[in-house]
Amino acid sequence: MSPIRWDRAEDGVVTLTLDAPDSSANTMDAAFQAALGETVDRLVAEKETLKGVIITSAKKTFFAGGDLDELIQARPENREQLLTTVTDIKRRLRTIETLGVPVAAAINGAALGGGLEIALAAHYRVALDTPATKLGFPEVTLGLLPGAGGVVRSVRLLGLVNALTQVLLQGQQLRAPAAQQLGLVHDVVSDPAELLVKAREWIEANPQATQPYDAKGYKVPGGSPTSPSLAGFLPALPANLRKQLKGAHLPAPHHILCAAVEGLLVDVDTAFVIEGRYFADLATGQTSTNMIQAFWFDLNRINGGGSRPADVPAFKPRKVGVLGAGMMGAGIAYVTAKAGIDVVLKDVSVEAAEKGKAYSQKILDKQVSRGRSTPEKRDALLGRILATADAADLAGCDFVIEAVFEDTALKHKVLAEAAAAAPDALITSNTSTLPITDLQAGAGLPDLVGVHFFSPVDKMPLIELIVGANTSPEAVAKAYDYTRAIGKTPIVVKDSRGFFTSRVFGTMVMEGAALVAEGLPPMSIERAALQAGFPAGPLTLLDEVTLTLPLKIEEQGGGAAAHPGIAVLRTLVKEHDRTGKAAGKGFFDWEPSKKVWPGLAEVFPPNVDGLAPGAGNDPIRFKDAQDRLLFIMAVETARCFEEGVLTSVEDANIGSIMGIGFPPGFGGVAQFVDQYDGGVAGFVARADELADKFGERFRPPALLREKAIEAGSLREALA
Ligand code: NAI
Repeated sequence: MSPIRWDRAEDGVVTLTLDAPDSSANTMDAAFQAALGETVDRLVAEKETLKGVIITSAKKTFFAGGDLDELIQARPENREQLLTTVTDIKRRLRTIETLGVPVAAAINGAALGGGLEIALAAHYRVALDTPATKLGFPEVTLGLLPGAGGVVRSVRLLGLVNALTQVLLQGQQLRAPAAQQLGLVHDVVSDPAELLVKAREWIEANPQATQPYDAKGYKVPGGSPTSPSLAGFLPALPANLRKQLKGAHLPAPHHILCAAVEGLLVDVDTAFVIEGRYFADLATGQTSTNMIQAFWFDLNRINGGGSRPADVPAFKPRKVGVLGAGMMGAGIAYVTAKAGIDVVLKDVSVEAAEKGKAYSQKILDKQVSRGRSTPEKRDALLGRILATADAADLAGCDFVIEAVFEDTALKHKVLAEAAAAAPDALITSNTSTLPITDLQAGAGLPDLVGVHFFSPVDKMPLIELIVGANTSPEAVAKAYDYTRAIGKTPIVVKDSRGFFTSRVFGTMVMEGAALVAEGLPPMSIERAALQAGFPAGPLTLLDEVTLTLPLKIEEQGGGAAAHPGIAVLRTLVKEHDRTGKAAGKGFFDWEPSKKVWPGLAEVFPPNVDGLAPGAGNDPIRFKDAQDRLLFIMAVETARCFEEGVLTSVEDANIGSIMGIGFPPGFGGVAQFVDQYDGGVAGFVARADELADKFGERFRPPALLREKAIEAGSLREALA
């Protein structure tokens, strides 16, 4: 059966229904490509008697996009074949839009990537407004660009700047009304039955339809790159992009920018050729392989169950208790209530609890004032949060999250109190440093699991679940289901010092301090990190978490006392009173009024005796610095695997990107090892080199040296 159904009505309107047999979604696979060819041939053959064409779908999504199973395999030697494929698809879509017959797309569900590209080849688009109907080009988030005409058409329809900033460069997914406002769709309906009616009405009214950009004298909104208005603005685009990427070398945004600008300087068909070449470059490169692996395959596996213990029935949280309404508790209450779950937010006084609830009010008020929510929705959400000081109100909760001060005795007390008040609830803790096994024993609980949120709670997508020695599989599964219920992504980690994320994060920031000790200027260290793709440099991050934190951990016997970075922190804190951002000075001077990272040109390294400027521009040292930040995280992750702290590469990859800022272009910290030049063996050789030069902390463990090399990758070694 063909994935494109052909239904010709008596009046000459053909409805093409995208409906891949034996599949839940339509993708641009070989069967679809063949069907597209046949369908277009038939349209051409019958065009004299056709009145119009409607493209719609029988699936929940309109069309899912490229076949990522195939795209992740693309290597430089497949370039020509890939070019032939996209050229072919583009030629077919171009034939449809130049047939001389009006073509309408009736978008019944998500049209992302290839789905939107098909829709853009129609002359008219009507979309059904449902929460699931999202339109956009998420390709950039997978290291790709829309290569089936998406760049060429969106730029011509929306104008260069709008297309780049609103759809192409950030992978935004728009609801139907927003897409209409932008000009991506013409009409929006709320009743599914109206979709085809609208499409037919439009065909009746527009027998002569063509694409606007095929009309004589068409002017691209905002002008062409040679028009004075845009020409003056063009040189700023690459600079803006670099600023947005903070200097990171991610190929996709750069290629999108080039394809968009160059495509506007030529005719449509030549623009397709240019777009195709940039697409093939990206698709056959390592970065897209890494990003597809992480953001499609690994993330989907986690969100579909991942490290959740199987065979435990699904859990649907209904009433969640949150102990402590401080920074974390307030955020946890908000994200939980936002998911439609009732929340009991408990603190030492009603005032303190109300203060935590006010955090939700503040966020919601802002959303209402910006038109992104309604007063009714705000009030309903606030109505789900009960602010209280009475533990008895926890009665009836099925899940409790403790988020009081990081104080062992206090935690023991409130955990036991909650267990007594809500006997049917699973009790969990958001502790960031205390061992779960000890907390469970100290509080005398039958079960306990760590639910480690990241700050700010409403923005950070990751939750690290901590499994203690006496945590049951049921508890892990329930915590997993809670995490998914609030729309966040869980990774599962064994109880140990620093768990996974804080432990690996710690090695990276301390490496930054070690580089300072060796005389590399702070600015160069930050630049090295940003160019590697970290969202922030190690010294900025140390300033944010405070320089006193690693010192405290070291004093408690946690950090390696001999770490060369410790001496630098001690000097800065003890001799110069530079403790970090909150105090206005750490590695850098901070202006308290600036909430966002001000950029290197604006923060000056302190003039501290003993922090020699060093040979900052030595390219070898710069490359070493970059590698050291990446390698120290990867080697420490391998140790986590060896110790059983981590068990899945998916958790390592996604946890490292979403929790601690590992550069996304490498696809995560485990993928970094597997994709290194020369494979795991190449990684081990370079790590050994770093160990010989800079210290044993870089020495790769046996898991990498033996098992992973033998298996061909860390992923295979752990499978
Ligand atoms: P916070 O100091 O902002 O809030 C703690 C709250 O607990 C205060 O409102 C306090 O009044 C309340 N509290 C104290 N005794 C209580 C009791 N008997 N019953 C109910 N509430 C009580 O602290 P924050 O930053 O929210 O941290 C809370 C927990 O989350 C800590 O365990 C921390 O380690 C952990 N955590 C913190 C992260 C962060 O970035 N701040 C990240 C992840 C976890």
